[in-house]
Amino acid sequence: MSKIIRRRPRRLRQSPAMRGLVSETRLHQSDLILPMFVADGIDEPREITSMPGVYQHTIDSLLSEVERAAEAGVRCVDLFGVPRPEDKDATGSAGLDPEGILNRGLAAVRERFGDDVVLIADTCLDEFTDHGHCGVLTVDRLGREVVDNDATLDLYRAMAVEQARSGAHVVSPSGMMDGQVAEIRAALDEDGAEDVAIMAYSAKFASAFFGPFREAVGSSLKGDRRAYQQDPANAREAALEVNLDVEEGADFVMVKPALPYLDVLRDTAANSPVPVAAYQVSGEYAMIKAAGERGWIDAERVMAEAVLSIKRAGADQILTYAAIDLAKEL
Ligand code: PBG
Repeated sequence: MSKIIRRRPRRLRQSPAMRGLVSETRLHQSDLILPMFVADGIDEPREITSMPGVYQHTIDSLLSEVERAAEAGVRCVDLFGVPRPEDKDATGSAGLDPEGILNRGLAAVRERFGDDVVLIADTCLDEFTDHGHCGVLTVDRLGREVVDNDATLDLYRAMAVEQARSGAHVVSPSGMMDGQVAEIRAALDEDGAEDVAIMAYSAKFASAFFGPFREAVGSSLKGDRRAYQQDPANAREAALEVNLDVEEGADFVMVKPALPYLDVLRDTAANSPVPVAAYQVSGEYAMIKAAGERGWIDAERVMAEAVLSIKRAGADQILTYAAIDLAKEL
């Protein structure tokens, strides 16, 4: 004899068709953004040890990978440049150079794919500086070595302008300098690039989850970024950062990393008047891949679940190194 249970939620879980009918969150290919690395001075794509399936690309392999992404339905890529070590300097000048690897990569992708693929440029100096910081260093009035916020803004302005000229549809300041969105917006407008959008890394935390990325870009950083990226303890401060970026003209805001900050993402999604992106960062990806390689988890399913969770928390766009595989499964 069955018991009388007034509510039986299992009724709606009986079959794939029923579950599909009541599914509240759906990932779509068009939600996904693929971050990519283009490296100078290599002849063959180089796999990043700690990020299986992710490569430092040559310009040629970059183009084939963008093609593969587009065929899978991923029509947005975010490009990072990896210069030759000898091209790094104190001000990251290779990042501003129109002939630098990032701008050449952008130009090649834009030339090949036109407006069919949305092309995002990473607008930050850390890959290009010999000290690995996101801006230029100075000694402050108390004798401390610090990243010079306002001097860095001038470099970001020039960098964004060059990226727009190279074909980026979107520039994405990720250095967490105060005032960066307003400065970049003004610089783009003054250069006639009012069509170029800004995806602002608004709530970006000083996170240990960025670990594998340092290998991915051959970072020279010693120390950390706690004096400019956010304290992982602070959600209220994330709201301030998001509000400032919206006021300064951001077209998108971003929360980064994603999975450890779903609370921040949810608050941001509830309050932002502009689309909210979330970045499943290198460490999030690497942990899933590593546990999968050991046979401890089903990496494909865990990846899909993690990304679905990010969407459920409120992300409109999700940057993930697994974008192509996920898109193919959908
Ligand atoms: C800095 C930048 C970083 C990432 C994206 N942009 C590294 C950092 O802030 O230390 C990390 C991305 C990832 O871990 O996947 N320009």
